[in-house]
Amino acid sequence: MKIVHTVKELQEKLVEAKQTPKIVFVPTMGALHEGHLELVNEAFKIKDVYVVMSIFVNPTQFGKGEDFDRYPRTLEADVEKLSALANSPDLLFVPDVHEIYGDGEPEVSTPRAGAVGVVFEGASRPGHFDGMLHIVSWFFRTIEPEIAVFGAKDAQQVYLIKRMVHREFKDSIEIVELETVRETDGLGKSSRNRFLSSEGRAFAPFIFESLSLVEKDIQGGMQPSLALEKARKAFEGQPLAKLDYLALVDKSTFQPIADDFAGLAQLLVAVVVEGVRLIDNITFSIQEPA
Ligand code: PAF
Repeated sequence: MKIVHTVKELQEKLVEAKQTPKIVFVPTMGALHEGHLELVNEAFKIKDVYVVMSIFVNPTQFGKGEDFDRYPRTLEADVEKLSALANSPDLLFVPDVHEIYGDGEPEVSTPRAGAVGVVFEGASRPGHFDGMLHIVSWFFRTIEPEIAVFGAKDAQQVYLIKRMVHREFKDSIEIVELETVRETDGLGKSSRNRFLSSEGRAFAPFIFESLSLVEKDIQGGMQPSLALEKARKAFEGQPLAKLDYLALVDKSTFQPIADDFAGLAQLLVAVVVEGVRLIDNITFSIQEPA
């Protein structure tokens, strides 16, 4: 695994990479856990690949008062984890903020997220999705991958990236969405889980349990709106957690669904546990009533 820090070095290595049939890109913000390592393993399941990973904590996707400064930066441990893989990425790009944004305050040149960018995660994190799309688009234009791999836990992010690839990259990049990797008790793996106290950590599996229960209720014939209401009430009884949203959307449009919806639905949740924002989602199919 070759590690580079500058765009110049990246571009030099990419000349070599272009000899390989497929460049697969795995963007991350570091603080790598098993979920990230699974993204790399997934990339290597594809034949004849050159895998580029980035580690970059992107300032423009953090709002004022968010955890940009506190976001874990663990490069040494990350490199160790990647080096221990049976297949490590061929290239690890670790730029600093100036390398990407130049001098001055980092800014987003083109807002892209639109209406989907201001609901759910976007409502609580203004500007987050424009900042995220800005950096992902920068990486796509610079690295020109054939394929990019993302974790399904960030459902809204994946939706917006797929839409951007369609609108701006003529679908020239295949987006692979990898199922959320979970702890044995169901909690989705996240770099932020480390900030939970033991009480917070003990509570956290409740989030995935609640999603699973909503699905079970709906599959058992309960109206989606009633199943959501029941789950929201259950969160109200949890002293450690503040529910931000629990919503069911049509996976293909990211629009909230009505009770008569049939098709592939995505159930989204964001909960703040002791000041730590945790998100999760599950996808399931809702059949038309017989
Ligand atoms: O999901 C993340 O870690 C980030 O949003 C990404 C895609 C690496 C962009 O900074």
